[in-house]
Amino acid sequence: MPPATPQPINLFEYEPLAKARLEPLAYDYYAGGAEDELTLRENRAAYGRIKLRPRMLVGVGQIELATTVLGISISLPVMVPPMAFHGMAHPDGEVATARGAGAAGTLMVVSPPSNRSLEEVAAAATGPLWFQLYVYKDRDVSASLVRRAEAAGYRALVWTVDFPVAGRREADERNGFGLPPHLRQGNFTGRDEVRPTAPGGSGLARVVAAEYDRSLTWDALAWLRSLTRIPIVVKGILTAEDATRAVEHGADAIAVSNHGGRQLDTAVATIEALPEVVEAVAGRCEVYVDGGIRRGTDVLKALALGARAVFVGRPVLWGLAVSGAEGVQRVLELLRHELEVDMALAGCPTPESTDRSLVRLPNGGAPL
Ligand code: GLV
Repeated sequence: MPPATPQPINLFEYEPLAKARLEPLAYDYYAGGAEDELTLRENRAAYGRIKLRPRMLVGVGQIELATTVLGISISLPVMVPPMAFHGMAHPDGEVATARGAGAAGTLMVVSPPSNRSLEEVAAAATGPLWFQLYVYKDRDVSASLVRRAEAAGYRALVWTVDFPVAGRREADERNGFGLPPHLRQGNFTGRDEVRPTAPGGSGLARVVAAEYDRSLTWDALAWLRSLTRIPIVVKGILTAEDATRAVEHGADAIAVSNHGGRQLDTAVATIEALPEVVEAVAGRCEVYVDGGIRRGTDVLKALALGARAVFVGRPVLWGLAVSGAEGVQRVLELLRHELEVDMALAGCPTPESTDRSLVRLPNGGAPL
């Protein structure tokens, strides 16, 4: 009998298992970044350049990972970010992801371009949900999503501001990316579907160009605010200047993100952008970060640099592809276990006990 496939023992080991199960077009879409994928790689590499300064004998008999985000309790400072089209990874799509996130005691952000509707996901979810928002040329489409999300019990909106157009993901262009015929966008009826195009194009880029409002400015935040009372997280911030503007325009939280390296290539790695954002925000709202987080030490560094919590994206999709909700939960539990060990070794018994003295930045912390 061939030996049983060993269970992955870290997040990296999920990716090849997922790749073996996914259609190449779906794997390329999830895994890919923009242009030369420099930002995609830098998001990850930048963590390796930050060194930890662990403290000894602080008493780590009890490690507590739980925290809150916008007043919502989560059992570890790791959340599931908005990602499109989970149906390509598993037949239950976003419903399975939400169950896995809930089982791990954390929250998930549901994306408008999901394969299951936001109502279906809410009905199945066992943990808190936030809803991602894009502002479309037809503002009624966004307004209707906001109303539906509020009615279905979503507890914050994650307005994604780094997507006036789709970044050039060359793998998607080579593949003529689009949804396979058995899948559609669960939140919309009678709208343009993201279907394959001839190689050289991308069905997603085509729909984004047709429907997303690239003329948006910061005034849109006041418009969003007029639609809803639930908190608004502004996602896609990489500079102190924009962090200041987001706070001035009433953001309830900021997510430092370069869209997983999928938009503007050579944009700064998120962990390198985090310190200036945190400094500009000066405690006026919560700050989260995503991009390249694969290890407990990555989470620890993000917390030390002022993130309230982090988002981990692609590994969740790999877990979903490997074994559905259970795979999503297992990915998050692996990270929890690793973070617990790393917090004990670093002398940080709680997320709040981390601070900037825990890290040594490259180049003495000066801009590179
Ligand atoms: C959508 O947000 C994507 O990155 O493909």
